Amino acid sequence: MNQDQLKQLVGVAAKDEVLKLPAGQVLGVGTGSTANCFIDALAPYKAHFSGAVSSSNATTERLLKHGFKVLDPNEVSVLPVYVDGADEIDPAGHMIKGGGGALTREKIIASMAQQFICICDATKQVPVLGHFALPVEIIPLARGVVTRELERLGGKVSLRATKSIRADLDQTPSEPFVSDNGGWILDVAGLQISHPLALESQINQIAGVITVGLFAKEKADVLLVSNESGISRIV
Ligand code: 5RP
Repeated sequence: MNQDQLKQLVGVAAKDEVLKLPAGQVLGVGTGSTANCFIDALAPYKAHFSGAVSSSNATTERLLKHGFKVLDPNEVSVLPVYVDGADEIDPAGHMIKGGGGALTREKIIASMAQQFICICDATKQVPVLGHFALPVEIIPLARGVVTRELERLGGKVSLRATKSIRADLDQTPSEPFVSDNGGWILDVAGLQISHPLALESQINQIAGVITVGLFAKEKADVLLVSNESGISRIV
């Protein structure tokens, strides 16, 4: 099976998992290619839910296209489950997220949810987080100061770029990637994250940081992971 097939497999498994909830609940829905597989698998069963809260503009668009009712998080007081992918997950359920740039809204929805179900293929499981560069969403004017602070922590920092609008011209510099919230993203390579909770709190305290894509406080409660032999459910 290739990685796309593994993502589809776990998307279907997550659909089966959330259909165990009583009917009429609100569902939290994540962002990325694995979350997209989940949304597509769940679409025929959308009537089971009273609505969804979404972690990005891209996910909102996909949910609406399938006919889900998308709710403003401010209208929702009880969120039993949030389903989302991850870029890396360690054995304790701590994650690096934000490869798709949606980390801030993902963390907000995760913090609202009673249970975080992480869905991924086995390539995302690591003994220690940090091989995948850690995304940090920032206020653009704080780029310099936040970069220096992150370098002090031992990271190699780069500003995430999007494809230039003039991709036809070799000399055109690329544009900074801009998040749904108007933030920029610094990707921090070279960290060995042995104490995720402490590092999350330390980076959160740097002035100018909107969100760090380290999900230690909001770690996964359940992990559905796909591999060649099927699905494992890890609690
Ligand atoms: C987006 C995320 C995604 O969950 C993460 O990047 C995994 O994406 P994919 O399922 O496409 O591998 O955090 O901000």
